[in-house]
Amino acid sequence: MMKLSQTPVECHQIDNVSLFIKRDDLLHPAFSGNKARKFAYYLQQPFSHIKRVLGHGSVQANSLYSLASLAQLRGWQLDYYVNHIPQSLRDQPLGNYAAALAAGANIIDTAGKNGEEVEPMLAHLAAQHEDTLFIPEGGRALEAEFGVQQLAAEIATWWRSQQLEQLVVFLPAGTGTTALFLQKSFCEMQLPIIVMTCAVVGGDDYLRKQFYQLCANVRYHPTIVTPAKRYHFGKCYREFLIAWQQMNQTGIEFELLYDPLGWLCLKSVVAEISSPIVYIHQGGILGNQSMLPRYRRKYPELFTG
Ligand SMILES: Cc1ncc(COP(=O)(O)O)c(C=O)c1O
Repeated sequence: MMKLSQTPVECHQIDNVSLFIKRDDLLHPAFSGNKARKFAYYLQQPFSHIKRVLGHGSVQANSLYSLASLAQLRGWQLDYYVNHIPQSLRDQPLGNYAAALAAGANIIDTAGKNGEEVEPMLAHLAAQHEDTLFIPEGGRALEAEFGVQQLAAEIATWWRSQQLEQLVVFLPAGTGTTALFLQKSFCEMQLPIIVMTCAVVGGDDYLRKQFYQLCANVRYHPTIVTPAKRYHFGKCYREFLIAWQQMNQTGIEFELLYDPLGWLCLKSVVAEISSPIVYIHQGGILGNQSMLPRYRRKYPELFTG
């Protein structure tokens, strides 16, 4: 049986801040963290007419591995479009790319086409073929609400069991899909649970736009915490590595793309939050296999032993 829901909430200290951590990293590695939530719909609905799934995004994205696993489980073919496959990765596959290949993914190099070009092409292809399903990059789709509601319900059940009054739930955002549907679910359940997030992939404006695209009602939009400075997604920053190492002192391995900025942003506002805080660990640590060597090369002095 694959574990795809019902993760524990644990109490930890990071840099002297008390936090509850929702351990979605303990979900099955193929759907680690928010992919189990965002792709639950595609895992559970019949889709009996589907034979092929189309996706696109980065060659090291954990959604590539999750889509490959989804396709493998359901007996579909995955055609996944990436804008470039580095020769070194072709020669020595690792991380999400290697895992996706092992699961039978057909990974197509578009030789530099970006997401804005590829997305309409794939959506069109799927519209023309009844047996073909298109899943937008990172699971940014209305279908994600189905599984994220389950995550919200788990947090609500835990919140009731703790007899808390208010609660802040914090999670870093890429497309913002998980954060948005969480806040919407808590609002619909009429619970005093506030979702706070930060934009890891684009800036705050990009994230706000994503929220509007998924849901026009601004009441359901999470609160955005702005980072102290502008960071580029996927780049290695000294303060990210230090933040990641701090988080790992909990004994839990965090992920290197989203969690460091998540923690820095949360830390910057923690003094203003009077209620307990749940940080959602959204998994994705397989990606550390490709990020860690980059950090090691750039900041060898921060690695001891
Ligand atoms: C580990 C991890 N954290 C956070 C996110 C951001 O999730 P979302 O795109 O739903 O905002 C992702 C992307 O899916 C992710 O892989």
